Order: sequence, then structure tokens, then C-alpha cells
Amino acid sequence: MKIVVIGGTGLIGSKTCAILRERGHEVLAASPATGVNTVTGEGLAEALAGASIVVDLANSPSFEDQAVLDFFGASGRNLLAAEAAAGVKHHVALSVVGTDRLAESGYFRGKILQEKLIRESGMPYTIVHSTQFFEFIGGIAQSGAQGNTVHLSKANIQPIVSDDVAQAMADYTLGAPVNGVVEIAGPDRMPMTELVRQYLRTTGDQREVVEDAGSRYFGALLEDDTLVPGPNARLGATRLDSWLQQQQAAKA
Ligand SMILES: NC(=O)c1ccc[n+]([C@@H]2O[C@H](COP(=O)([O-])OP(=O)(O)OC[C@H]3O[C@@H](n4cnc5c(N)ncnc54)[C@H](OP(=O)(O)O)[C@@H]3O)[C@@H](O)[C@H]2O)c1
Repeated sequence: MKIVVIGGTGLIGSKTCAILRERGHEVLAASPATGVNTVTGEGLAEALAGASIVVDLANSPSFEDQAVLDFFGASGRNLLAAEAAAGVKHHVALSVVGTDRLAESGYFRGKILQEKLIRESGMPYTIVHSTQFFEFIGGIAQSGAQGNTVHLSKANIQPIVSDDVAQAMADYTLGAPVNGVVEIAGPDRMPMTELVRQYLRTTGDQREVVEDAGSRYFGALLEDDTLVPGPNARLGATRLDSWLQQQQAAKA
């Protein structure tokens, strides 16, 4: 079976391609680096010829509000139209837990549009909502950085390692379309302030984390449970502390 992974050169995309190949499928990693651009449409029809499933793991190169909206709008429209023309049977996409609660954020308005286009396309689909990746914790710290301090909300967060995300993406890709949203998350829930404190401490970063109820998460004010999944989420097995130790050991 031919599977096209849009964003197949990215963090989750490259790992998902490897798993799907191990499971015996013909996998095309599609991205600008391999000559396929979902925003301009370049190479899209050729890439999708003969494909049964498309997995969308692309991300906007810019996180500026309008750029994200333009990216997910153009990419989603071009991709879904090309899939319909190619006779694709299942569209799988990766989005974020709580996306529908985060409309104050420009980035999440882009994800909301991406999901809306999928739901309205008539294409059988599965939208996977993941929590934040362990690999993104540094980005969260940076988003709250103010000189020598990091200002963050104490809202709960339940991050997951990218390898566990990719395993879940491969499973949902090969399963029947859900025509709805499924949630995945890591095994441990904690306040964002605690998460980033642990991350900075382990990586030897001296900056102090300051709890700040007014600080926004990529533009959105958070309630305690905005970023965490419901009770039926599939949970990854990898724990944050063991991953942090592995990362440090790999650097040493
Ligand atoms: N970060 C998180 O914590 C988190 C949590 C939940 C969900 N997500 C979602 O996970 C998804 C994947 O994130 P990631 O971190 O794996 O992304 P990433 O590593 O930044 O990779 C982005 C991919 O998108 C491709 N791309 C960029 N512009 C494109 C275009 N015009 N046409 C086709 N492909 C294009 C890139 O291709 P090139 O390599 O050729 O540039 C790359 O393969 C995103 O949709 C994000 O919203 C992220």
C-alpha cells in the first residue's frame, strides 16, 4: 500500500515514515526538500498518484499569526483537493490537544482552520490530537523568557516523546478512519512551571521559572486543563525523567 507522508522530513514525519516502512509499506516522504510543496502545489499530483493514505505532518515554517493561517489554509485546501483527485481513501493529520480551546492564539487559529478543512472535505479522516512533545519543552521555555527569568502559567501539561507520537501516528494511519479526533499524551501530568523547571535544571540552565497567571501560551491565556486530554487518551510509555537522563548521557 502506498502511503504519502506530507512533512515526512520533519521530527514526527521522519520517525513515522521509518515505522511505516518497517511495517512493509511503500512510503513517500513528501516535503519541499523532496520536491513536494503543499502551499504552491508543486509536485503534489505526482506524489499522490496511486496513494491510498495521506498523513499530514507538515508544520508552518513561520509562527507569525498571518503566516500560520495562510500556511494551513493553502496547504490544507491544495492537499485535500489533490487527494480527492487521486482517489485517496484516508487522510490522517496531527494536531494539538486543546486546539479548539486555544483560538486566542494565532498559531492555533491556523490549526483550527486545518481541522475545519478536513472535516468539511468529505474525505474519510482521522485527526490525532497530541500534547506537547518533550523535544518542544525548550521552545516553551523560550516563549516565556524575559532576561534571566522564564514567565509561565502553572496550567497543567502532559507532554509526550516524539517516538511515542510516531508510533501512534503509524497505528492510526493503518487503522480505519475515525472521522473524528483521538487524543494522545505522555504518562505524567504536571504544572507547566514544574515541567520547565525540571527541564532547565537537568540541562544546566540557570534561569529561574516564575509562575505568572497572566502569561500567555503562544498568545492564549490558559485554564488549568486547557492543554491536557480527556480520560480516553492513548498514553505513551516514555517518562520525562528517563528521557532527560538519556539526553544528558548522549551529550556527555
Ligand atoms: N511541537 C509540539 O509539541 C506539537 C504538539 C502537537 C502537535 N504538533 C503538530 O505536529 C506537526 C508536526 O510537527 P513537527 O515538529 O514534526 O514539525 P517539523 O519538524 O517542524 O517539520 C515540519 C515539516 O513540514 C514540512 N513542510 C514545511 N513547509 C511545507 C510545505 N510548503 N509543503 C510540504 N511540507 C512542508 C517540512 O519540510 P522541509 O523539511 O522540506 O522544510 C518538514 O518536513 C505540526 O502540524 C504540529 O502542529 C506539534
